[in-house]
Amino acid sequence: MPILAANWKMYKTVAEAEVWLGAVAGRPELELAEVVVFPPLTALHVLRGSGLGLGAQDVGWATEGAFTGMVSAPQLRDAGCAYALVAHSERRRYAGEDDRMAARKIAALWQAGLTPVYCVGEDAAERAAGQGEARLRLQVDTVLDSLGDELGGRLVIAYEPVWAIGSGTPATAEQAGEALALIRERVVGRCGGAAAARLSLLYGGSTSPASAGGFMEQPIIDGLLVGSASLDANSFLAMLEVMVHA
Ligand code: PGA
Repeated sequence: MPILAANWKMYKTVAEAEVWLGAVAGRPELELAEVVVFPPLTALHVLRGSGLGLGAQDVGWATEGAFTGMVSAPQLRDAGCAYALVAHSERRRYAGEDDRMAARKIAALWQAGLTPVYCVGEDAAERAAGQGEARLRLQVDTVLDSLGDELGGRLVIAYEPVWAIGSGTPATAEQAGEALALIRERVVGRCGGAAAARLSLLYGGSTSPASAGGFMEQPIIDGLLVGSASLDANSFLAMLEVMVHA
């Protein structure tokens, strides 16, 4: 089944989330994909029990304690989440998250039985300097170094080139496929063939119903992490339609 992950970022009030859900709930295509919505924490309860997968946009690395502002993996599970984004490029940029912190968050999620969606990708300057692959290798290897040679649970990795996110211009399907092949090779090379069964690979960055089909034609791409095109229920449903029939 294709994976459709909807990252709402810091958008939608409770009332807006309810309207979105009202337009989406009950659609038969939902049964044909692994759909996960990452709403703001304030709207998690709206989607809980809807049958859609539920995720958080970030997670604290500690289990509990004096960590003002953090929400832990067990607390997210308690709120109905089965997934969390880790090290999204906006967290890297605005909250100083790095690959080492990402590894701690992934470990915390696995410990609580949640699925991490680890976001990686080079920025425009790294790409222009021919450093894109090196950046990806570092982002993946740093996490694997810290986590050891076995995956402690299911791992979703999203290739989200920073230059594509929110720009209106996605990477090409071939670029995405090549980056994800490199990522898979790093994980499987390190953790062995058994890890491949626990690994899912997404592309994200300015995807739309128009570009979704091309990405899904790449055998290595298991699904898409969608930002702005997921906010409007009609565009989300158009995306889902393309993906389940690709
Ligand atoms: P976008 O966002 O689809 O709006 O580019 C994707 C993301 O940041 O996950």
